[in-house]
Amino acid sequence: MTTLALDGLSVRYGPVDAVRGLSLEVKPGEIVGLIGPNGAGKSSTLHAIMGAAPLAGGTVTLGGRSLSGRSSEDVARAGIALVPEGRRIFAELTVEENLRLGLAARRTPANGDALEPAFELFPVLRDFRRRSAGALSGGQQQQLAIGRALVAEPDVLLLDEPSLGLAPRIVDIVFDALAAIRERGLAVLLVEQRAQRTVALADRSHVLANGQLRLTLGPEDAGDTERLISAYLA
Ligand SMILES: Nc1ncnc2c1ncn2[C@@H]1O[C@H](COP(=O)(O)OP(=O)(O)O)[C@@H](O)[C@H]1O
Ligand SMILES: [Mg+2]
Repeated sequence: MTTLALDGLSVRYGPVDAVRGLSLEVKPGEIVGLIGPNGAGKSSTLHAIMGAAPLAGGTVTLGGRSLSGRSSEDVARAGIALVPEGRRIFAELTVEENLRLGLAARRTPANGDALEPAFELFPVLRDFRRRSAGALSGGQQQQLAIGRALVAEPDVLLLDEPSLGLAPRIVDIVFDALAAIRERGLAVLLVEQRAQRTVALADRSHVLANGQLRLTLGPEDAGDTERLISAYLA
């Protein structure tokens, strides 16, 4: 089992308590949402999982094994991939070259076309594989960023606000892709500002405010998401 588990996770930057005692679990074949206002500690949680934020307490485990104190490269090799906020693709490289960067974290050599996991999900990446990534639209660049994470064949996918700045039609593509990724059996931890969409899609969604877990919602709460959340954040 490659369940990702956070237990009492705390992140502190000097005097700032960014995350305070957060516990959650993501199992294979699940999407868990992490929603909440700006500054709630969502990105810090993802960075702490990747070994890239100062852990002030608590543990991160994958399949029961501790990831504490490991470098980001080690965490990636253990099977966790992050799609960072703002995509961070390399505009001067081609689509294919960007995807190949994701191969560095693979644990096993690829059989056949190593880029297939990305092309299957996002055919536009295959069509544009020789184009420079900088020539893609914002939505296509987001697909590229997710595709790059997938070619590493991770067990766990972390995403930091993948729908930020995208047109509604493209948001649908991204959310449909996340559902397909869940079908492949990955464990997905989805940080989002779009609360309603996230609550409707995810198996459960945790609302974070001031670094603390306030409320957990299921898909059945999607109709009432905004009201529920504002009640808890008031
Ligand atoms: N590198 C950093 N150094 C100092 N403070 C930080 C750093 N990154 C984030 N913070 C602070 O930690 C808190 C949580 O930020 P963040 O995790 O980015 O929230 P979110 O992703 O939910 O918007 C905020 O108060 C933010 O200003
Ligand atoms: Mg953030």
